[in-house]
Amino acid sequence: MVDTPQILGNVCLSDTAIRENISGVGLSGLRIEVEEALDSTNAALKRRATSENIHGLALFAETQTAGRGRLGRLWVSPPKGNIYMSLGWCIGLEPSELAGLSLAVGCAIGEGLDREFGLNMQLKWPNDMYLAGKKCGGVLIDLVQSANQGWIVIVGVGLNVAMPKLSGDEIDQPWTDLSTHSAEKLARHEVGGRILEALVPLLSSWQVGSFGQWRESWCRRDLMAGREISIQQGGHAIAGRAEGVDFSGALRVVTHEGLTLVQSGEASMLRGETL
Ligand code: BTN
Repeated sequence: MVDTPQILGNVCLSDTAIRENISGVGLSGLRIEVEEALDSTNAALKRRATSENIHGLALFAETQTAGRGRLGRLWVSPPKGNIYMSLGWCIGLEPSELAGLSLAVGCAIGEGLDREFGLNMQLKWPNDMYLAGKKCGGVLIDLVQSANQGWIVIVGVGLNVAMPKLSGDEIDQPWTDLSTHSAEKLARHEVGGRILEALVPLLSSWQVGSFGQWRESWCRRDLMAGREISIQQGGHAIAGRAEGVDFSGALRVVTHEGLTLVQSGEASMLRGETL
């Protein structure tokens, strides 16, 4: 871990700077907002969805006072070093038709960031982003039902760009950040731009079965492939060898009983293969 983060000064995020860093069809209709502090960008968009149209609204915060991770965990969100962002999107599908969406979000962001910053992002099922075996980001998808627009997905992305060491000490697992692994200095508005360039085309074209197009990308980045794992599902655990994902994004686990498809749960590596 470097002491001086590879980040461009202590530059504040701004909607203008992020917008200047995006290009692509469909991105012009995006609304981008940056707040100094929010409890959680996902929670804030959820609240706003009750009184306004949040389709195409990308909400960034410099810090979150109650950032949320999966399974109700805290997402450590100190100011001015990282990305905390949520994008609202009227998806036009039912929740049961969104299989694989969160995995595809990880793939699309990984491809955009790798290309731009020379990284080699890996993904841990279902939606954790890793660099060199340590967690650097995660995706949290919430769903809200609007009165007249059907289901709206809120895609929340937390990405450690330059995590201050002191805040990192609050994280309960091995972690890293992009600046540690990028040869060039990173600007957060560029990282934000690449994320939006990845998300908007993905969400606008998402249909039932779309994960099939991302499965190969997932396989290339799959941190757990071939490893002995345990999946916690409430009070119950499944142990076996991870064998990638199927066309819906379900995790394939080979257990003593044979192949099991796992739709949800918390995966961890076994036999000293800790992360
Ligand atoms: C996880 O790995 O558990 C998912 C983490 C998701 C964190 C992001 S930060 C932006 C958005 N707002 C939140 O409160 N959570 C997500």
